[in-house]
Amino acid sequence: MDEASQRLVLLIKRQVLQMRQIRQFQWSLTDLQTSETGGATSPSVTDPDIQQAIVDQIFYDPVVMKHPPSLTYQHSFLKKLISMIETEGTHEISGDLLEIFTELLVTAPKRPEDGGPPLEPCFKSYSLDPECSKVVTVMEEQTTISSGTTGLRTCFWLAEYLIAHPGKLHRRIACAILGAKKVVLTDGNMEVLAMAKRNIEYNDIPCPTTASLLDWENFTEEQIAALEAEVLIMSDLTYDPTNIVPLVTVLKAILVKGVSAYMSSAIRNPQTFADFFARISKYLPSSLMNLVCFP
Ligand SMILES: C[S@@+](CC[C@H](N)C(=O)[O-])C[C@H]1O[C@@H](n2cnc3c(N)ncnc32)[C@H](O)[C@@H]1O
Repeated sequence: MDEASQRLVLLIKRQVLQMRQIRQFQWSLTDLQTSETGGATSPSVTDPDIQQAIVDQIFYDPVVMKHPPSLTYQHSFLKKLISMIETEGTHEISGDLLEIFTELLVTAPKRPEDGGPPLEPCFKSYSLDPECSKVVTVMEEQTTISSGTTGLRTCFWLAEYLIAHPGKLHRRIACAILGAKKVVLTDGNMEVLAMAKRNIEYNDIPCPTTASLLDWENFTEEQIAALEAEVLIMSDLTYDPTNIVPLVTVLKAILVKGVSAYMSSAIRNPQTFADFFARISKYLPSSLMNLVCFP
């Protein structure tokens, strides 16, 4: 298979692994690679070689199938792909694709909007490189509200910011897979911590990585010292006005030790965010704070 076709298969694979919504799915390289292909047409997902590569590199790949996307998602993906091949009418549908799809017709639960049961937590895998060779797998809830959390994806904005500004990482923090000495995931909710522990086990992480209780309303100096924190990465923690004082209290206890911190926040309620900012500013000189706004 030529290089452009292989890139298209990897693009499809990355999206399937992270269960990108089918209506947002990118099915061709055209937008991405115009300059590299010099205006040439993108390879098509309907091409028989690409159909086969999708089967081999996604559905028959033992690494992918160890922590596969949900059956419901696999079914939706194949339904769309098969309908694209049928509508175009240029190529046959691969026998392997049809076989997998037929099995999913029996095994995949219907979507809730079609009368199926509520969506179960499922695996999503995020690749850190275009080749899908460095992948982080997490079991995620598919509901927007779970265990007191709200499921806004501000962590993705933060990850994108840090990846786009590697100089800010000082090589230490790009998390375990990218070379941190040690990573500690903290939360105050036992269900969230249990999920975090399971997610650590799903991945082959090359440094000590743990999930520990750190309740902002009830923590000790020993707990803070045990973190041995050099860099703090926080996402979506300023969502509840009643949490601002405890959050700033625990941050103060950590930041006075000279720890750097990165935080992403969705500004749901401007007053809550302003309150957080005003309180944290008391403990950090403004010259050390850098506010970046995303659209
Ligand atoms: C909106 S979620 C964000 C989760 C994750 N960081 C993300 O970006 O998807 C807020 C998290 O803060 C945790 N949290 C809330 N109050 C806390 C407290 N007092 N101590 C420790 N964690 C707390 C919740 O359990 C929840 O996991």
